[in-house]
Amino acid sequence: MEMHIKAFLNKISLVASVIATLILVSILLHPPETCIPHYTPHNALKFPRSTCDSHHHPRPFSTPEKKNHRLWSTSAWLKKVKSYSQVFTDARKFSPTHSSVSFSLLSNTSKTLCLLAGAGQEVMALQHIGVSDVTAIDLVDSPPLVSRADPYYLPFFDDAFDFAFSAQFDTVLFPSRFVAEIERTVRIGGFCLFLVEECTNKEVREIVGLFKRGKFVGSDKLIVSGSKMTRIAVRITNSTAY
Ligand SMILES: *[C@@H]1O[C@H](CO)[C@@H](O)[C@H](O)[C@H]1NC(C)=O
Ligand SMILES: *[C@@H]1O[C@H](CO)[C@@H](O)[C@H](O)[C@H]1NC(C)=O
Repeated sequence: MEMHIKAFLNKISLVASVIATLILVSILLHPPETCIPHYTPHNALKFPRSTCDSHHHPRPFSTPEKKNHRLWSTSAWLKKVKSYSQVFTDARKFSPTHSSVSFSLLSNTSKTLCLLAGAGQEVMALQHIGVSDVTAIDLVDSPPLVSRADPYYLPFFDDAFDFAFSAQFDTVLFPSRFVAEIERTVRIGGFCLFLVEECTNKEVREIVGLFKRGKFVGSDKLIVSGSKMTRIAVRITNSTAY
């Protein structure tokens, strides 16, 4: 390479490194304002994502335990837990409308599955009345009461539970798939209890009709946290009889 071209290239690289150094120094002296707030609707519930966030939006640090403690002492929470406790106490000796017999859907030792359990009010209610083996799932977890799992592909063995409960059957997108997973994971002779918005006998029959191995135990109407609801109990059987 000819000498003067080489000298020219050297000069260029020297100038380039000087410019790079100057830029670096100026960045160090004046940090750029890149802390744009990441706004999402749930932002208020999240911890700061970077030190940048916490620097610009100081927020008291709150542990999940503290948050739960606050949530669990709200009157809305306590009211719901109380309502569910009554629902489960009744389920120990369930006397459906128009039935002279009562059924023990649930005992203290029942392995219990709560589906779409939200923040876990029903789990707390079950624990309060003495049912200790409770597994609760929803699409979003809510530790320590509710774990995350897909209700349409339950991560549990066949016949793993004695009792299944859901107060969210109304909101389910694929009811037959939801019911099929309950029938798979609840043992023969076990029970399923749904709490749905108050409905007619015809609607109750439609819901029970989704069970392939379910036998209708009975239903009744009740008030849960101020709302009119219908409670539907189904026994999981070995046959397709309804
Ligand atoms: C169930 O557990 C509760 C709370 O521990 C207790 O008060 C109740 O007597 C138990 N019921 C039965 C039938 O053992
Ligand atoms: C369920 O039915 C099958 C076939 O009819 C039978 O072999 C099995 O023993 C039954 N299981 C129970 C728990 O009744």
